[in-house]
Amino acid sequence: MNVKLLPLQKHGDDRGSLIALEEGQNVPFTVRRVYYLFETKEGVRRGFHAHKNLKQLVVAVRGSCRFLLDDGHEQIELVLDNPAQGLLVEAMVWREMYDFSEDCVLMVLADSLYDESDYIRDKAQFLALTQPESRS
Ligand code: TYD
Repeated sequence: MNVKLLPLQKHGDDRGSLIALEEGQNVPFTVRRVYYLFETKEGVRRGFHAHKNLKQLVVAVRGSCRFLLDDGHEQIELVLDNPAQGLLVEAMVWREMYDFSEDCVLMVLADSLYDESDYIRDKAQFLALTQPESRS
C-alpha cells in the first residue's frame, strides 16, 4: 500500500519538544498546502475519498484519531497519536478518519493546492479504478 509511517526527529530538552518538517528532508515532496482538522465532533467519521495524484503527510500534532486506509487490494487500520510520527499517504488510497479524541489536531501537508477534480469520492468508482483491467 502507498502508505508509510515516518518517524520525525524530536528536538527535546528540559524546555519541551520541537519537531521541524522540511521539504526534501523529512517531507518527501514539495509542500504546496498545509491544512488542519480540529474541533472534530464526537462520533464523526470523515474523509471518504481518495486522490488521483495528491501526496500528503498527516501528523496528529495533538490527540489521536484512527485511520482506515484501502488501496483496493488491502485495508489497514491504524492509530495516529504521536506528534513524532508522520503518516505518508500517496495517491489512490481511500481514507476514512474516525475516533477523534476531543483535543485532536490533525495537521496535513500536501503537494498541491486544493483541487476538487483530484478527488474520488465514490468508493465503487475508486474500487473499479484500482482493478488491473482499468489500468490497460
Ligand atoms: P472535505 O473534503 O469534506 O474534508 P474531509 O474529506 O477531510 O472530510 O473538506 C471540507 C471542506 O473544506 C470542503 O468544503 C472543502 C474545503 N477544503 C478547502 O477549501 N481546502 C482544503 O485544502 C481542504 C482539504 C478542504
